[in-house]
Amino acid sequence: MADRLAGKVAVITGGASGIGAACARRFADEGADIVIADLDAARAADTIAAVEASGRRARFVRTDTSVEADNEALAAATVEAFGRVDCLVAAAGIANADYVSGQDTGATGPRDILRVPVADWERVMAVNLTGVMLTDRAIAAAMIAAGNGGAIVNIASSAAAIPLRGGGDYCVSKAGVWMLTKVLALELVGHDIRVNAIGPGFIETPMTEVMRSDPAGETLMKRMTPMRRLGRAEEIASTALFLVSEDSSYLTGQLLFPNGGMFTG
Ligand SMILES: NC(=O)c1ccc[n+]([C@@H]2O[C@H](COP(=O)([O-])OP(=O)(O)OC[C@H]3O[C@@H](n4cnc5c(N)ncnc54)[C@H](O)[C@@H]3O)[C@@H](O)[C@H]2O)c1
Repeated sequence: MADRLAGKVAVITGGASGIGAACARRFADEGADIVIADLDAARAADTIAAVEASGRRARFVRTDTSVEADNEALAAATVEAFGRVDCLVAAAGIANADYVSGQDTGATGPRDILRVPVADWERVMAVNLTGVMLTDRAIAAAMIAAGNGGAIVNIASSAAAIPLRGGGDYCVSKAGVWMLTKVLALELVGHDIRVNAIGPGFIETPMTEVMRSDPAGETLMKRMTPMRRLGRAEEIASTALFLVSEDSSYLTGQLLFPNGGMFTG
């Protein structure tokens, strides 16, 4: 590959699976050392091995991104291991309160806004919105202390702009990440830290596995997508690479939508 991230250190939350794992591999191919922050070390093993196979250093830091102290420990562990942190991709997320990445729990609580249990709503906000804020600020503080600037990429969703019936908690959490990104971009601009977000469409990862295994779900996702196909995690990693590299040096506070042409404007 190339060396667009040579000498850089990247933290990737949700890096054990799907979009986060694809970012870890792609960034390592471009020369970055990688810290994967996720709930389960065993699920991150393949990605850690892939990063090391490309000649880069990798660490796993067990992190629940919805817990403030975990995010602070993640930032400290990164600086201790590699001496700096230059890039963050905040990809940890859940589709709903019962979602466990890589497993179909079979749980199907009511999701419409009239009936969704408050605890479920709050769980989605805790991981998808507050968790992203907590990771962003812990890593941003480490970037400021190091004085090298940096680039933060928050993984939102096209659902930040497109309302989905029965997905109120998810859509609202992702719309919140969009605004979080804009406010933080303003607050960090004086530290030479750029903050952008990505709003993927339907991507082939464990998160869409249940929908993809149902022909009606697959048809619905393709019908909503002008390109008539789902995206690949690698296509989101390419967008993330653009946003953390110098190629996007004049871009901050933006949400890019790699989504096969869905109208999200
Ligand atoms: N797959 C899609 O179609 C799609 C579309 C739009 C946005 N997204 C977003 O992309 C991001 C990545 O999703 P994905 O599709 O790769 O799903 P995924 O389930 O494959 O990966 C999500 C990862 O986040 C981790 N995670 C969940 N909660 C966590 C927590 N509290 N602390 C630390 N790690 C946690 C999981 O363990 C998993 O490794 C999510 O924010 C998701 O909402 C996905």
